[in-house]
Amino acid sequence: MQRTITLVACAALWASSLGAQGDSLYVAWCSACHGKDARGTPAASTRLAVQPADLASCSASTPETEDQWVGIVTRGGAAYGLSLDMPAYGEAGTAEQIRMVVRYVRSLCREHGWPPGELNFPRAFLVEKAFPENELVMVARGTQQQLIFEHRIGRRLQYELEGRTAFDSVHRPFDGATLALKYNVWHSARLRSLATLGLEATPPLGRQSVWELEPFLSAGVQRAGFVMQGQVVAGWENGAGFTGTSSRLGIGHEAGRFVPMLEAAWEMPRTGAHQLTFYPQVWIRLSRLGHVAGSLGAEVGDRPAQLIAFVLWDFGDAPLLRGW
Ligand code: HEC
Repeated sequence: MQRTITLVACAALWASSLGAQGDSLYVAWCSACHGKDARGTPAASTRLAVQPADLASCSASTPETEDQWVGIVTRGGAAYGLSLDMPAYGEAGTAEQIRMVVRYVRSLCREHGWPPGELNFPRAFLVEKAFPENELVMVARGTQQQLIFEHRIGRRLQYELEGRTAFDSVHRPFDGATLALKYNVWHSARLRSLATLGLEATPPLGRQSVWELEPFLSAGVQRAGFVMQGQVVAGWENGAGFTGTSSRLGIGHEAGRFVPMLEAAWEMPRTGAHQLTFYPQVWIRLSRLGHVAGSLGAEVGDRPAQLIAFVLWDFGDAPLLRGW
């Protein structure tokens, strides 16, 4: 019994010394550049070509994963296409010390309610992401193109503007525009899952003749290396009322910088035939930092198969030309 108590006491002491080690390691290793408070203001004596990152603010740390930051601190900024000024600590410190210091800086965000970057799953072609993003996306789907601008407001809210063009046999290439809002209603780091409610509004512009509203629910979950993302959408049109629902489900598996995915969409219009369409695709991390990614695939269903593709830039993470 005595021995067990001693062991438990030792373990607790060791754990608390590791916690304390995180902040003393920060002072020793990082504070000259990132600032005493980790807000990215270097000490007056430090000369740097690039402004060091603000590590303390929630909006900077929560969209990233802990592993990504451990990677940057272990291998240095250059390994991720960032500034050489961000040193590599893989030789100076142990893996445990590096994780400790990263956990310490990430603990400086003391606000609750920010969904963690671990739940920022790779974007699927059809399913709306549940994670709020700062992103610019260019999509090609057969003869149609979309440009999407997504911007985060605070912890859980994001708005989105989308413009569409189509170069087909019809003369008017401007296809329409859509405005959307989404709010992350629930997330759990422990359960590796999240759920988001949203609303899309399409005004009568371009080829769209009436107002259309589409409320939706999106969710994502990660289990055993697989990511599953789903969305249910309802349609309402001015004049026609409720037009039907659409359910979408995608499953993917991360393999290095590639994420092969398969999505299925089940369209259930109020009038007319139901339709099942498949979207096999591969998501690809393009930049070393991971802030630029792309996807290539096909739409396979009742209609003739067509190519689908997108490229995205997570502008909240880094400027377009950095991180390569
Ligand atoms: C010699 C100066 C210097 C030191 C010391 C330093 N850093 Fe950095 N760090 C930088 C600079 C500069 C950047 C910005 C790199 C860029 O954006 O190209 C950076 C970027 C980072 C990033 C990337 C942030 C992002 O937005 O993706 C992380 C994480 C980071 N540092 C953590 C640390 C930690 C933890 C330590 C201590 C173990 C540390 N740094 C020590 C200069 C430094």
